[in-house]
Amino acid sequence: MKTLLIVRSSVNGAASFSNRLLEAWVAHARQRLGEVRVVERDLAAHPVPLLTPETVAAIRAGVVDTPARIEADRLARELVAELQAADEIALGLPRYNFQAPAGFKAYIDTIARPRITFRYGESGPEGLLTDKPTYALMASGGLYPAESDHYVPWLRQVLGFLGLKDLRVIQAQGVAMDAEGALARATAAINATT
Ligand SMILES: Cc1cc2nc3c(=O)[nH]c(=O)nc-3n(C[C@H](O)[C@H](O)[C@H](O)COP(=O)(O)O)c2cc1C
Repeated sequence: MKTLLIVRSSVNGAASFSNRLLEAWVAHARQRLGEVRVVERDLAAHPVPLLTPETVAAIRAGVVDTPARIEADRLARELVAELQAADEIALGLPRYNFQAPAGFKAYIDTIARPRITFRYGESGPEGLLTDKPTYALMASGGLYPAESDHYVPWLRQVLGFLGLKDLRVIQAQGVAMDAEGALARATAAINATT
């Protein structure tokens, strides 16, 4: 049985468009794959703490000598294990002030760990997460043509840096103008995935 990891980051709960896209994605994944195990990480309900001067030593240098560092290391290992155990990942990603929600950035800052999720070799950086289909299910109030956007390129850069290069982006753009139309188009794109 395949394992799916869904990561929520919207603060809008049941009213969230990215959460609705995640529901559509899971429903379609069940059709594609049959019985699946779904693991859910909700970064809004259970925020990953921001790095601090104390915890950064645990995340980046592996120093685990205080309760705060031990907890930061424990959580980071749990998050990375979830990513590694998944066969496919879906990230629910709203656009807040032109970028990812702060909670998602805190998540990235915690899972990006030297020698655990990336390393520098002689030929440069190497991502250590096992590559797998990773869906970015995005929602935004406005419209963002690819050539003027920096959210998706950043996402592709940082996930690729960690080894997740197979990024598949589906966006519900313009929900402030035509929410149902944007949702319907994004859901159709989800339902077309194989
Ligand atoms: C704090 C905040 C900031 C936002 N900033 C933007 C923005 O910069 N650009 C945009 O197009 N929409 C923006 N929006 C609208 C959201 O992108 C839109 O409501 C989208 O549906 C959010 O995803 P969600 O429904 O999953 O939370 C913002 C919404 C919030 C709550």
